[in-house]
Amino acid sequence: MTKTYALKGNIIYSKNQNEINCFENSYLICQDGKSMGVFEKLDEKYKDIEVIDFGEKIICPGLTDLHIHAPQYNFRGMGMDLELLDWLNTYTFPSEAKFKDEDYAKRSYQRFVDYLKYGPNTRHVIFASLHVKSTQILMDLMEESKMVSFVGKVNMDRNGGVDLEEKDADESEKATLDWLESIKGKYKNTYPILTPRFIPSCTDELLEKLRKIKDEYNLPIQSHLSENLGEIEWVKELIPKAKFYGDAYNIFDLFGKNNKTVMAHCVYSNDDEQDLIKENEVFIAHCPDSNTNLTSGIAPAGKYLREGQKIGLGSDVAGGTHASIFKAMADAIKVSKLRYRLVDEKIKPLSLEEAFYMATLGGGEFFGKVGSFEKGYEFDAIVIDDEKLLEEDKFNLKQRLERIVYLSKDEDVVSKFVRGNKIF
Ligand code: GUN
Ligand code: FE
Repeated sequence: MTKTYALKGNIIYSKNQNEINCFENSYLICQDGKSMGVFEKLDEKYKDIEVIDFGEKIICPGLTDLHIHAPQYNFRGMGMDLELLDWLNTYTFPSEAKFKDEDYAKRSYQRFVDYLKYGPNTRHVIFASLHVKSTQILMDLMEESKMVSFVGKVNMDRNGGVDLEEKDADESEKATLDWLESIKGKYKNTYPILTPRFIPSCTDELLEKLRKIKDEYNLPIQSHLSENLGEIEWVKELIPKAKFYGDAYNIFDLFGKNNKTVMAHCVYSNDDEQDLIKENEVFIAHCPDSNTNLTSGIAPAGKYLREGQKIGLGSDVAGGTHASIFKAMADAIKVSKLRYRLVDEKIKPLSLEEAFYMATLGGGEFFGKVGSFEKGYEFDAIVIDDEKLLEEDKFNLKQRLERIVYLSKDEDVVSKFVRGNKIF
């Protein structure tokens, strides 16, 4: 994209975790897919550029979903009476096993991508299933959508049952290499990410092989960490030499440090695990909707954020029922209040500013300079029509943002730009 253009409207973005920048009736300039900043008036040098005038609507950075499972979209809103391990065996694994069928995958993933396309998120970090062909189909569709994503073919060579398990570490390694070779140089906006499902799904032999693949292909990594108490006990039995759950990944060099890594949940990370997450600059994907639905618990997201951990939000569909990261912001704030009241009054509830930061700059950092309209950031913007929420009173822009977080629907997103490309 070499075009220079401006969006005009009421512009809001996170300045840092404690402040929100608000500009009424201003111009946001895009040049070569990057933001040139926000201006109250257009400079002389921009006098001939195209201006798309969105009037009274709100323009804010596209949101980042750091953790979502594409093949679980089909069964969201089901099985919410179960906790993690039973939920995986009863609903998730049988449902993901269906993605062996390419036609089924094509139809399902088309619906999934359309759903994401018309919501407020512009960036996603996605688990596919263990199937190579279906993962390729998902990546083709994500690329077609012009949104930016990391997509991982899942590795699992134990505890998946007969229908959702790679025979052994060799088979999983071969499938991963086949997948990586098949997509080499194919996409501009869709990147591969190494995806060991979680420790109970991967033998030591497989984790050792994934370490080598990660080094050879220089891949980022995604997985799950300290989500549920039963899961944590199981990991202790499976890898007794690990000092804590995160150490089980770290032993195989699959825990940040050399390769960008995102771990979902971190509900029960102990002090040593938190220290290693920080030292290795591992991103935390906080998934409050999923942690509530699966009765997992409440992660101390405010503590992580205030202590300088890298943290963003995840929908974790289908542990979570909705992909909208506006909804995840509201959920994060709500559960932080319950945690404050019921568990630990030393950790204050999350503010709107903090939740907005996690949804934009916090998660966006996994993709580079993403999540802000400061000069030099990649140009991801969404336009929200909140006219129905304005009622009788005049609200300021921060108040309007708060109402969008709690009350807006996906349909209220009326236009979306990613890396300067207009999506709709
Ligand atoms: N841990 C391992 N697999 C999964 C999954 O699919 N969803 C969630 N929430 N946790 C997991
Ligand atoms: Fe998950």
